[in-house]
Amino acid sequence: MKFTYYGHSCFAVETAGKKILFDPFISYNELAKSIDINSIEADFILVSHGHGDHVADLIPIGKRTGAKVIGAYEIVEWAQKQGIKNAHPMNFGSANFDFGRLNFVPAWHSSTLPDGTPGGNPGGFVVHGEKPFYYSGDTCLMMDMKLIPHYAKVDFAILPIGGNFTMDADDAIKAAEFIQCKKVIGCHFDTFGYIKIDHDAVKAKFAAAGIELILPEIGATIEL
Ligand code: NI
Ligand code: MN
Repeated sequence: MKFTYYGHSCFAVETAGKKILFDPFISYNELAKSIDINSIEADFILVSHGHGDHVADLIPIGKRTGAKVIGAYEIVEWAQKQGIKNAHPMNFGSANFDFGRLNFVPAWHSSTLPDGTPGGNPGGFVVHGEKPFYYSGDTCLMMDMKLIPHYAKVDFAILPIGGNFTMDADDAIKAAEFIQCKKVIGCHFDTFGYIKIDHDAVKAKFAAAGIELILPEIGATIEL
């Protein structure tokens, strides 16, 4: 299973022969200048919530690739008004796709789209592919994470670690405990001043907690 990191909370996972892109925000990310958004292929685009740092490149990538855009009803409707043809609206619940089953689960955050349109409720995803995994989206630590093992024994989790707008490393370590997962890929850090982290300090915290932390380089593809 291939995981490619595009910076901030944007990444792609290849599972069951399908490419799933999450929260496309690349061309406005100063740290991701090396990524050409026109080179990104996708069969599906999953959107956790409506903030600009998660949807900025959704429309151009969605239109070019024809990928199926999946997210909250309000976000999908907003995308369709901007010319996205292939889309699947959800609310918290589960549905089956070509890559496998998908659980759209709550997150504690907000979700206004860049033009001020309400984006419904923010969420995260449990993706059942070759290996089930959880992407929390932007959220603080929350008790609902204790329900994740009900959906799947996840192999890895992509969790924000930058603090301020989301969980920081300490809360992400507690989240990993709630999720019952020993492998975390960190996201939502370093992009802006508010969320810059000390990599060595964060790695040491995870190591002390006995949880593997992966901080992939932007543009890097890793095998999971
Ligand atoms: Ni956000
Ligand atoms: Mn964000």
